[in-house]
Amino acid sequence: MFKTKILPATDENCKKAAELINQSEIVAIPTETVYGLAADIKNELAIKKLFKAKQRPQDNPLIIHVSTIDMISNIAESICNIQYKLIKTFWPGPLTIIFKKNDNISNTITCGLDTVGVRMPDNKITIDIINQAKTPLAAPSANISGSPSPTCAQHVYNDLNGKIPVIIDGGICNIGVESTVVTIENETIKLLRPGKITLSDLQNIHERVTIDRNIYQKFENIDKPISPGVKYKHYSPKARVILIKSSFSSFYSYVNSNKSDNFCTLVFDEDLCKTNFPAVSYGSVNIPEQQANQLFDKLRYIDLQNFKILYVRCPSDTDIGLAVYNRLLRAANFEVIYID
Ligand code: TXA
Ligand code: MG
Repeated sequence: MFKTKILPATDENCKKAAELINQSEIVAIPTETVYGLAADIKNELAIKKLFKAKQRPQDNPLIIHVSTIDMISNIAESICNIQYKLIKTFWPGPLTIIFKKNDNISNTITCGLDTVGVRMPDNKITIDIINQAKTPLAAPSANISGSPSPTCAQHVYNDLNGKIPVIIDGGICNIGVESTVVTIENETIKLLRPGKITLSDLQNIHERVTIDRNIYQKFENIDKPISPGVKYKHYSPKARVILIKSSFSSFYSYVNSNKSDNFCTLVFDEDLCKTNFPAVSYGSVNIPEQQANQLFDKLRYIDLQNFKILYVRCPSDTDIGLAVYNRLLRAANFEVIYID
């Protein structure tokens, strides 16, 4: 049991975080997407601590964070032309690329897969810590598995207090949803998890791009998922989430005629003045970047109030909106009510 400290991201504290990582500890660090829980990729003991602290299922692999492109040569077996193009265009940035792994990477990280996800974060603090630790870092999101990813140090503290020695506080994450994850299959980029790097960003650099069906559909046991994370319920507040795709007036009528005790709504800024029921906003209706930035914080806030049912105004699924929609779909266990 630790007395978990939240430390501001000074040079000295980043150095301390790197030292702890070099001493087989796990440390929470900010990135531009969400906070990560970081361990030295070569340290089996530390990697096992990650799974334990997060209560992460043993078959959900970790992604690796690098600070230089050279680091990939000790991680990936090879890099194809499309992967090069993705790296050149989007790194540093919120894009995780799946590579064939080489023998240096342990099965504990990849959960027995022969592939490994890698990204180069676009955040000076993350890069400093990787450089100081002198090793790539395995870092899943720093939440307890199943709860919304953390977008500030306090979220991490609420989930992991007592389980880790240090949280490096870099403020609120710029993006607020996890990185886009892609793999390459038959010369085609396949989108496995939507994020800030959008479908059209990918289409701009390569003509063949497909979307994994598990982004829109519930994972069924007969499928073998390409990305093991899709099997698990995610981003779920304790309340039952009901996602409603409709105009505001239909949403309003639906909630008023179905409401029971102890419910809340998650709506857009523009809706707030028109509601007569409990409502929390997750940004402006036309600004998906804002929705991405606020979603997890608002889900966590609603969780603390112990509501039983949460009615959510459905976001648009274009650009980064697809990431917001996908996280809400998963919180709602893929159930959407269509009205209008
Ligand atoms: O933005 C992010 O990606 C954050 C920050 C901390 O970098 N990290 C993050 O990690 O979201 P995590 O572990 O919470 O999500 C990684 C996702 C999981 O859904 C996992 O199943 C998938 O990537 N993944 C990891 N390795 C994979 C592989 N070899 N093939 C397919 N999917 C993989
Ligand atoms: Mg996660």
